Amino acid sequence: MNHDYNLLMNKAKEASKMSYSPFSRFAVGAAVLAKSGTIYSGCNVENSSFGMTICAERCAIFKAISEGEKEILAVAIYSPNADDCNPCGACRQVMYEFQGDEEIDVITENMGELIIRKLGVYLPYGFKI
Ligand code: THU
Repeated sequence: MNHDYNLLMNKAKEASKMSYSPFSRFAVGAAVLAKSGTIYSGCNVENSSFGMTICAERCAIFKAISEGEKEILAVAIYSPNADDCNPCGACRQVMYEFQGDEEIDVITENMGELIIRKLGVYLPYGFKI
């Protein structure tokens, strides 16, 4: 399928402006394209109790699922602090949970260029019950 990943990345950029990251000072935004065609965005939200922090990707994915989405087609990730900002291991596993028949595209940006990788590149042999 031909999706507008520039639009998805722009949504991730917008979301990164909402980042609550006073501890790491590392802002992240993510935008999820759900199978319905709707885009959900999220940012990292840190906490004084550090372990309670949630990544931007999971924030966006949980927004999508809690609105009734069942499958995710693509996730764009952006940080103003780093090029090619890749998802952490926990977020890879959460993405895998909501992968349908089509492998999820993970989109990052490097020096203004989009990089599109399949989730299987990040998480081969993923676990699912
Ligand atoms: N972070 C994300 O939001 N997504 C990732 O995939 C990597 C890490 C956040 C968590 C924390 O608020 C900050 O980046 C530094 O680790």
